[in-house]
Amino acid sequence: MPLVSMRQLLDEAAKGGYGVGAFNVNNMEQIQAIMEAARETESPVIIQASRGARSYSQDRFLYHLMLAATELYPEIPTVLHLDHGNSPETCLSAIKLGFTSVMMDGSLLADGKTPSSYEYNVDVTRQVVAAAHAKGVTVEAEIGCLGGIEDGHGAGGSGMEHLTDPAQAEQFTNDTNCDALAIAIGTSHGAYKFNKKPDGSVLKMDVLIDIHNRLPKTHLVMHGSSSVPKDLQDIINQYGGSLKPTWGVPVEEIQLGIRNGVRKINVDTDNRLAMTGAIRKVLMETPEKFDPRDYMKPARDAMKKVVAQRMVQFGQAGNAKKITPIPLEEMAALYR
Ligand code: G3H
Ligand code: 13P
Ligand code: ZN
Repeated sequence: MPLVSMRQLLDEAAKGGYGVGAFNVNNMEQIQAIMEAARETESPVIIQASRGARSYSQDRFLYHLMLAATELYPEIPTVLHLDHGNSPETCLSAIKLGFTSVMMDGSLLADGKTPSSYEYNVDVTRQVVAAAHAKGVTVEAEIGCLGGIEDGHGAGGSGMEHLTDPAQAEQFTNDTNCDALAIAIGTSHGAYKFNKKPDGSVLKMDVLIDIHNRLPKTHLVMHGSSSVPKDLQDIINQYGGSLKPTWGVPVEEIQLGIRNGVRKINVDTDNRLAMTGAIRKVLMETPEKFDPRDYMKPARDAMKKVVAQRMVQFGQAGNAKKITPIPLEEMAALYR
């Protein structure tokens, strides 16, 4: 089947009361890992690429790898989503290439780190919604800013500085007509989110629940949702790495989010950790090896295992076959 609209997948997830993981990719092995996990668990999938991923893969390599994924896994409804589009131009170039969903992250200015004004955010989001919906493409927007700056998407700090204001989230959704709304509840990108297992003082699930009560029909998105499992940290450190002790977002908190309107959960770091740990292990244990397949295959397997586990935990497993894709032209007509 062709790449599908993210709005359709999230509408289905809302009906079924489950969440859909959105996994970041940069290369073939990561796409293969996700598609294999999706096949094994019979899950619909969202594959997302950041600006950095688009540049690393020269854009067209990535797009054609995604077309290969749809050919080889025709039973899996698959979305290609732009993660953290920093400007309308970036979003439009993704739509032109064939992405079926884009994120216009107008919570930050185009530099990806300076918090913007409400008016700026509404303006750029509206521009993207108009262009995207005309083509049946989905738009995710963000209100409030994530912390951290490890990967160039975040306002810095601990994540507590720019939490989403629930009343503003309500206003913003009405002002922009976005399909999905990313909110800031204390998470940040990368491995270093919390210095102990997070409680309600730093991971603001109460804010999320307030937003959901005000916007019960809006698909909420949790960014910075890697759980940073200790076993994956340990493998890296055991084989010569040096990660400082750190905590991510516990899966049970994500599941609480899913019961309260979260339909898309962004995960990148856990997969990065899994792949790096597997590669380190091979290189340390068998230093005579130099064929990239000797370490890329275990890396791909390690990522597949994490993704499959999340697909089950988020509840998307078993739902692929329930989805009959709506062509983008039909989505465009529905938006009209
Ligand atoms: O948004 C964050 C993702 O982890 C992507 O990160 O910009 O380093 O590709 P990246
Ligand atoms: P993690 O760094 O927690 O995996 O978050 C990824 C993300 O939010 C991508 O947009
Ligand atoms: Zn993000």
